[in-house]
Amino acid sequence: MDDLKPKSKTVTFTLDGVQVTACASQTIWQAAAKRGTDIPHLCYKDDTGYRADGNCRACMVEINGERALAASCQRKVAEGMQVYTSSKRAETARKMVMELLVADQPTRAKAPDPQSQLWAYAETQEMTDSRFGRTTARKHPDSSHPAIAVNMEACIQCNLCVRACREVQGNDVIGLA
Ligand code: FES
Repeated sequence: MDDLKPKSKTVTFTLDGVQVTACASQTIWQAAAKRGTDIPHLCYKDDTGYRADGNCRACMVEINGERALAASCQRKVAEGMQVYTSSKRAETARKMVMELLVADQPTRAKAPDPQSQLWAYAETQEMTDSRFGRTTARKHPDSSHPAIAVNMEACIQCNLCVRACREVQGNDVIGLA
């Protein structure tokens, strides 16, 4: 019976110099994760129903021959592709993204959740502060709604919560404005 099932197409590419075979429908991020490489990611959640949006750029990788870095959470693997997750260029760009995000946050000590994914990845990138100066205008938590508490101090505007609510839970009740 297995012979009757359509075979999923595979591609062979290199990931940090190692030849890898992966399903053609996978993203670089998924193929890397399967091999134990954790590429930083903030606006993408590796779980059923979550769509990659590619808007935080924390997951950028270098692809040989391409001028721009690619968001690994969105970019599909392709035959012969040469991907570098830890090249100096990729790491420098990801660190810059983190530095810009951290500039818009309270310090880790004052963060709503110092163990958040943002701060965990900032730590792995040895990012404790930002050269760009910290946003001083702080936003106050809003608990005025009986069902939803909002703390914009924890928000990096990655839209993940909106997609989770709208596309995973099927409740179209929150949005960004
Ligand atoms: Fe890929 Fe945000 S995790 S762009």
